[in-house]
Amino acid sequence: MKISLLRPDDWHLHLRDGVSLNAVVAHTAERFGRAIVMPNLKPPVTTTELAREYRARILAALPASARFEPLMSLYLTDHTAPTEVARAKQSGFVHAIKYYPAGATTHADAGVSALDKTFAVLAAMEEQDLPLLVHGEVTDSQVDVFDREAVFIDRVLSDVTRRFPALRVVFEHITTKEAVDFVKSQPATIAATLTPQHLLLDRNALFEGGIRPHHYCLPILKRAHHREALIDAAISGNPKFFLGTDSAPHAKHSKEAACGCAGIYSAHAGIELYAEVFEQAGRLDQLEGFASHHGADFYRLPRHTDRITLSKDPWTVPTHYAFGDDRLIPFRAGSTVAWRLCSP
Ligand code: NCD
Ligand code: ZN
Repeated sequence: MKISLLRPDDWHLHLRDGVSLNAVVAHTAERFGRAIVMPNLKPPVTTTELAREYRARILAALPASARFEPLMSLYLTDHTAPTEVARAKQSGFVHAIKYYPAGATTHADAGVSALDKTFAVLAAMEEQDLPLLVHGEVTDSQVDVFDREAVFIDRVLSDVTRRFPALRVVFEHITTKEAVDFVKSQPATIAATLTPQHLLLDRNALFEGGIRPHHYCLPILKRAHHREALIDAAISGNPKFFLGTDSAPHAKHSKEAACGCAGIYSAHAGIELYAEVFEQAGRLDQLEGFASHHGADFYRLPRHTDRITLSKDPWTVPTHYAFGDDRLIPFRAGSTVAWRLCSP
C-alpha cells in the first residue's frame, strides 16, 4: 500500500549546531519542506541577527540537493526588547518567538523567570502578529512533574490568552487531555503541536523492564487516557492541531547517564511515525491535513505543491547514527517502523 501527501512541514524541531547540526539536518530535509527551528542553543538565539547567522549555518549544512527552508524562532528572555519584535517580523525569516519557563527543559536556563516581565514584548508580538510558541510547563518543584502542563494552563496560559486576545499562540508538544480541551475551547488564534512520541507511547514506556532514558523527553510521557485524547485531536481534522516532532538529538552518553537529558530523536522517521498513528486509528485520510495543511495555514505560509509518497513497507531503524565523536540513539533504534519514505 502507498499513500501520497502534499509535502509536510515540521512545526517544532531542534537542529542544534556545529557537528550535531551536520549529523541530523538531512533527515528532516528529506521529508519536510520547512521546519520551525527551536532557538535553544547555548547561548540561545535571542536576536534577529543571531537567527540570521544560525539560519546561514543551517543552509550551509544542508545536502546540495535539498530544498528545505528553515523557519527561525527567537528565544524569549526577561531582557528581550520590545523593539526586537518588529525587527524579527521585518526580517522575513523569523516566524515566531519561543517562551521557555526558566529551567523547564534542556538549555532553558536563560528562559523567562516570570511571564509578566515580558508583557511589553507580548504586546508587540500581538501588534506585529508574530506567533508565540509556548513550552507549557510550570517549573515549580512543588508541582508533580506529571501535572506541570495542566497547572501551567491554569496559572499562566489562560491569563496570557485573556490579556492578549489577538496574539497567536502555539501550545507546543501538548501531552494531556487538559491541553487538548483548552486548545479546543479557545479561538482560532490558539493552536497546538503534537509529537510522535506522545501519540505512540504512554508513561509505561519509561519503565519497560528497566529505566528507558531514550523515552525521556519533556513534557514527560503521560497516562494512556491522555494519549487517547491526543490521538483524537490529531485525527479530528481540527486545524488547531498540527505536526511538530520536537525531534531533539542528544549524544548517547548524555542520555544514558545518572542525570540524563530530556529529548527524543525522531527526525529519521519524522513523517513515517505519524503515518503509523493515523493508520492504527483508521484515519490515514486525515494525515495530510495534520502534516501538510494546518500548520502552514496557521503560520500564514503557502502550502507546498510537491508531494511525498510513503509505502507500507516496514524497515529496521539503525541502532545508532554518527553524532560528532559520539552516537545518537534514534526513536525505535533496532526495531521497525511500519511506513517507509519512497525516494522522489
Ligand atoms: C528539548 C531539547 O532537548 O532541546 N527536549 C525535550 O525533551 N523536548 C527541549 C524541549 O523542547 O523541551
Ligand atoms: Zn522542543
